[in-house]
Amino acid sequence: MEQYKRDHTCGELNAENSGKAVTLNGWVGKLRNLGGIFFIDLRDRYGITQIVVDEDSGSAARSVAETLRNEYCIAVQGTVRERPEGMRNAGIPTGGIEVHASQLAVLNRCDVLPFQLDDDAPAKEELRLKYRYLDLRRAKPQRLIKLRNDVSFAAREFMQSENFYEIETPTLIKSTPEGARDYLVPSRLHAGNFYALPQSPQLYKQLLMAAGFDKYFQIARCYRDEDARGDRQPEFTQIDIEMSFVSREDVLNLTERLMAHIFNKTLRLELPAKFRRITYAEAIETYGTDKPDLRFALPLQDFSTFAAASGFRAFTSALEEGGAVKALVVPDAAVYSRKQIEELESCAKIYKAKGLAWMKVAGVEGSVKLEGGVSKFFESKTAEICAALDAKAGSLILICADARSKTACISLGAVRSKLGKDLGLTDTLADGQQRFEFVWVLDFPLFEWNEDEGRWEAAHHLFSYPQERYHAALESDPGAVLGDLYDLVLNGYELASGSIRIHDPELQKRVFAIAGFSEEEAERRFGFLTGAFRYGAPPHGGIAPGLDRLVMLMADEKSIKEVIAFPKNSFAQGLMDGSPSPAEKKQLDELNLTVNR
Ligand code: AMO
Ligand code: AMP
Repeated sequence: MEQYKRDHTCGELNAENSGKAVTLNGWVGKLRNLGGIFFIDLRDRYGITQIVVDEDSGSAARSVAETLRNEYCIAVQGTVRERPEGMRNAGIPTGGIEVHASQLAVLNRCDVLPFQLDDDAPAKEELRLKYRYLDLRRAKPQRLIKLRNDVSFAAREFMQSENFYEIETPTLIKSTPEGARDYLVPSRLHAGNFYALPQSPQLYKQLLMAAGFDKYFQIARCYRDEDARGDRQPEFTQIDIEMSFVSREDVLNLTERLMAHIFNKTLRLELPAKFRRITYAEAIETYGTDKPDLRFALPLQDFSTFAAASGFRAFTSALEEGGAVKALVVPDAAVYSRKQIEELESCAKIYKAKGLAWMKVAGVEGSVKLEGGVSKFFESKTAEICAALDAKAGSLILICADARSKTACISLGAVRSKLGKDLGLTDTLADGQQRFEFVWVLDFPLFEWNEDEGRWEAAHHLFSYPQERYHAALESDPGAVLGDLYDLVLNGYELASGSIRIHDPELQKRVFAIAGFSEEEAERRFGFLTGAFRYGAPPHGGIAPGLDRLVMLMADEKSIKEVIAFPKNSFAQGLMDGSPSPAEKKQLDELNLTVNR
């Protein structure tokens, strides 16, 4: 290798280097043989440089050129020269030059490729994941991995400048409940005992606060055994943050500045100094979700007054049972076909809606008229309805009623999200500019009722602080208790989640009890945390933005896998290394384990 070691990368030579003798290393991209003159696009992480092998290159170089195939790893020695006028490529930094080769060496050959590394025609995902090291050679993954690197670096740079320590926490731990299933690791030395992989460093970062490290962060791996989705992986990374002696405002403010720094350093974008804020209750009422995409409006509106006065049973009975009737006005949608409306109805039904009623607003001689669907129940109130909902000629009004107000909101919210995509309301702007709409969702309920298990459980995790005004009566109405909890939502995705924590052991015990943990069980599972609270633990709070999700959204990618070097597939399998795989009998014996299947 010594004699062929590169002195330049494939992305840096230009006309100023004309006449210079250089050595380059890289992979053979495009390869053309034009009447005995070889043109090779030599590629590495930094770019592409055109190599020319012709008569003057000498017979040794020419005979090596004859053997080259795509993705051979090669070394080239030669001289930089300007390309002739008309042959220049202004699209790449090296487009003005080429390297006229005098020597070529094959560093390693490449088998027949399982798929072409052509960006325009990506292969099936299964194949790409199996040969991810080849897939990663393509320009797009190279760009995404670089963006991820830049985001991590910017995050570290900012946190360090704010005087945070980066501290690693263990990954063989006692289970940390974040609501998903744990990955367990059997202990050899303690047969029958297991470590859990952390779902997050939650308990450890709180213990670091007890230890006096008042500003902590970590780019931390987290492991959760849950069903895959487009924005979820079984192992993922958080920018995990915790601070002592702070209020909610301090955490929100720090996070806003962190995001501003990351976006500025990597995408050269200025974010607003403050992000919008809505409460959880408003988010559900107005957008039918706790992670609203605010790149478009389409708010859900209250339709109960008109519904109550109508003769439509589905609506009046929902209201009689204490529910809600919500409406969504879609402008310029009078052309929607019955089939399209049925698709929207199916979408609502996934979220337990009983149906999706509709009517259209037609313009007739300067005034408006309700048509189709359930219009016959509302014709007499046409003008009032259109004024109240701001519906104009050409609008489609979609209505959802349910005896459970939340069901009406959430199912119509799902329709809103679908419309946002279908109508192109989430597209990048015409000039290619992406839009980033951040919003804080605040005041989440602390507890949620688990229907299946018939018990209250923590909506976020068990360590979040109930807002002061609920302390006296936590137990009497857990469902009404709001927590000092906050989520940062970006373009309809939950980007970060956090809270002010409980630091009083007595209050923590009460929260455990409401979530159904007996004192003994709480002691057994979380005693090491509550124990620390007894030794002067400071008031503290924190947050954790998902790094993978952040990069995915910054890159406008639909799948989180695209921004992870070696992701799992949707069935939590590593297709490249074949994990998970059976353990050897010897390993199982050492661990004192038997496998039942
Ligand atoms: P939470 O569980 O909400 O909070 O996670 C915080 C953020 O991590 C990201 N995230 C994921 N990303 C990819 N794949 C997953 N499976 C996945 N799960 C979560 C999301 C999410 O907003 N300890 C608390 C944080 C705290 O209270 O400080 C926690 O882990 O972007
Ligand atoms: P029906 O009277 O049951 O035939 O329903 C007439 C229309 O009202 C259909 O389009 C149903 O989808 C719709 N619908 C029925 N129940 C509801 C409901 N709870 N909310 C909204 N639309 C409904």
